[in-house]
Amino acid sequence: MLLPASAMVRSVLVMAALVQLCRARISDPQLGFERNKVTGCPAEFQGACHCGVVPYGVDHVPTYVTNCTNAAFDDSTMLQHVPIETEVLIFVNNELYDLHFNIFGKESGLSQLHTVDLSNNHIQTIKGRTFHNVNNVTKLVLNDNDLYVVSKDFHPRMFSNFKSLEELQLRNAFSDKDVREKTDRYLSNLADTFKESGLVNLKALDLSENGFTDFKNASFFQSMPALETIALRSNKMSNLDVDLTLMPRLKSLDLSNNNFPFLRRATLSRISAVAGLGLNLSGNPLRCDCRMLDTYHYLLKSTGSVADKEEWRCYEANPSENVGKSLFEIDPRDLQCELKADPPAAHDLHVSYIVLGLVGVIFGVILAVVVFRHRRQVQSLALRVSEPVRNKFNYSSLDKKDIEAEMEV
Ligand SMILES: *[C@@H]1O[C@H](CO)[C@@H](O)[C@H](O)[C@H]1NC(C)=O
Ligand SMILES: *[C@@H]1O[C@H](CO)[C@@H](O)[C@H](O)[C@H]1NC(C)=O
Ligand SMILES: *[C@@H]1O[C@H](CO)[C@@H](O)[C@H](O)[C@H]1NC(C)=O
Repeated sequence: MLLPASAMVRSVLVMAALVQLCRARISDPQLGFERNKVTGCPAEFQGACHCGVVPYGVDHVPTYVTNCTNAAFDDSTMLQHVPIETEVLIFVNNELYDLHFNIFGKESGLSQLHTVDLSNNHIQTIKGRTFHNVNNVTKLVLNDNDLYVVSKDFHPRMFSNFKSLEELQLRNAFSDKDVREKTDRYLSNLADTFKESGLVNLKALDLSENGFTDFKNASFFQSMPALETIALRSNKMSNLDVDLTLMPRLKSLDLSNNNFPFLRRATLSRISAVAGLGLNLSGNPLRCDCRMLDTYHYLLKSTGSVADKEEWRCYEANPSENVGKSLFEIDPRDLQCELKADPPAAHDLHVSYIVLGLVGVIFGVILAVVVFRHRRQVQSLALRVSEPVRNKFNYSSLDKKDIEAEMEV
């Protein structure tokens, strides 16, 4: 049985329209790239990523996420084809080493892109011209990489195209070799990077787990005056010599899990110069003796918040019964000084001397009273004890005379 010609033409047209409709739904509205039906991503992503709207963040906001997690990519060329509607790019646990110039292409204009996460990709270098079209990115995450700031090519303008950056996460982000062996240059190059990148809008900086001991530069954060939170968790810091007044909006300073035994007077005056600063010192090897007093009194009258107070535990203490207690369970009169302590810092010395002096005076007075009340016994004891000494003294002076006499002969 044959269909009339007009009916056949009609059904072909309907089929074609249906196919067209399906293709339109899965192809890029602006650029016309084919999208993989299962993953939603362009073909260049080799079926290894997911592209599409998913609930995102703590508020589960529907967001267009391009997600290449564990995609086993050793190259970033596909990123030139990131879907134009991408708001969040997650490209984590791959192996990139050195990033290309213009990894997001030259003209793509990712105007919706606000978050880029490139964690754990063994990234070693980011060149000044690596990122383009990132003007609207507010959050960049580069945790767990091996960025060289000394050894290999050093590119101080690493983040310079991120004009709107508000949050930068650099947890465990730098080459261990640079951190270990080239500490001074590592720190000064890092300060240059922040400065050259013009991070004037940055509000949150995470520099946790980077082996810092100290910044050795009061103006280390000077180029980021809008900072509100700085995380320096799990470094090796025992001192903080940074001028915090350069960041007038600073609200939170996380110094947890470092090596602070207490806060030095200079550090305290820097911290107290920022009204209402929230401080986290939990997980430090706190030394609860008289050198802790300044810190203790500062914290009592601090206008800021003190995070996880109960975790501010004494690692060393005098008296030693206080080891393991929370600093705030201890009566400040029980923060005593050890006389045999290792050399305290210069500004702590006068406190030690005053305490030492007082102990000496008290001991002297007690001794005098005891001696006076038992003066008889003491006198006879002294005579008995000194007898052999006196005899020996006589002998030895005799001996000496004999020798002198012999020599004169
Ligand atoms: C990205 O993909 C990984 C692995 O498929 C998944 O665990 C993660 O939740 C995804 N993230 C988002 C924001 O969709
Ligand atoms: C940033 O976003 C605005 C508004 O969404 C847009 O007009 C502008 O073109 C975007 N800039 C870039 C470089 O994509
Ligand atoms: C303080 O630091 C500890 C250890 O890093 C962390 O577990 C805790 O959440 C922090 N507290 C606040 C309030 O940030």
